[in-house]
Amino acid sequence: MFAKKTLHSIHTICVCGAGTMGSGIAQCAAQNGFTVIQFDVNPAMLDKSRASMENSLQKLVEKQKISGEEKTAFINSVSFTSQIRDCKADIIIEAVVENISVKQQLFDELSLINNDKTIFATNTSSISVSSICHERIYASRFAGMHFFNPATIMKLVEIIRTEKTSEDVIETLVQLSKQLNKTPVVCNDAPGFIVNRVARHYYLEALQMVEKNNEDFRAIDEIMEASGFKMGPFKLMDLIGMDINYSVSNIVWEALGKPGRLKPSVIQKNKVDAKELGKKTGKGFYEY
Ligand SMILES: NC(=O)c1ccc[n+]([C@@H]2O[C@H](COP(=O)([O-])OP(=O)(O)OC[C@H]3O[C@@H](n4cnc5c(N)ncnc54)[C@H](O)[C@@H]3O)[C@@H](O)[C@H]2O)c1
Repeated sequence: MFAKKTLHSIHTICVCGAGTMGSGIAQCAAQNGFTVIQFDVNPAMLDKSRASMENSLQKLVEKQKISGEEKTAFINSVSFTSQIRDCKADIIIEAVVENISVKQQLFDELSLINNDKTIFATNTSSISVSSICHERIYASRFAGMHFFNPATIMKLVEIIRTEKTSEDVIETLVQLSKQLNKTPVVCNDAPGFIVNRVARHYYLEALQMVEKNNEDFRAIDEIMEASGFKMGPFKLMDLIGMDINYSVSNIVWEALGKPGRLKPSVIQKNKVDAKELGKKTGKGFYEY
């Protein structure tokens, strides 16, 4: 007989990063009954996150999907902080910038103030999960938990296991995802995991058509949407954020040995340099 697995009990979720993804993940956790700590080094991003949650929940009130009291309770279950000392929780879900050293440093600081039961999860789109966890102390409690944008709506969560992640932790993350009303898929720690590896071509081929064949990006979006895709590649890049999408392209390209078919696009680099990052800055391929 195998011993029954002990699952870690999760009541408090700390979401680090209050940008596009962190804000959505925090809202999703609040709406599903968790106590949430939303942390960001930039207080302006915390204000923006709170406003975006209020706005999004108000829309649900107007559609009579939740009551006004529920809206207030959800907002009140989130504490917004720019102090790392407040980030003590049963699980940390990190959603800060796509930069390995920023993520490593953050996890090292968080590991010092949390206990030996806390689970550490990264929402990275493309960085090797094992390499973010460079400290061995919490390696068995470290995994990827990759949400999709917008995190309040998209159902899929990729749960990424490293060679060191314990099965208890994977099982806990699967259950947690279900409690968040998501559909978890467990996958291995490989460049781009599943979705970002397969979908890379959706962006890169479209960018190449603009760069090399002088196609109109609007026409490409229209045709892809008419053929059944929910969003054309350029609208999707604007939604994701040009900086994030460009970083992911570079990381996947380098991790796979720089194959020509996955070479990042100069058009996207120029957009990043010009700070035309998409919806979050008001201009990307489109204006908002
Ligand atoms: N945008 C997407 O569609 C998408 C989808 C899935 C996963 N991701 C991943 O999620 C992560 C966040 O992406 P995003 O689009 O939300 O980025 P974003 O640029 O919208 O937000 C990043 C936030 O991190 C904060 N931050 C930076 N350093 C920090 C630190 N040391 N501690 C706390 N906060 C810090 C910034 O102030 C900012 O608010 C990235 O790893 C990205 O690859 C993004």
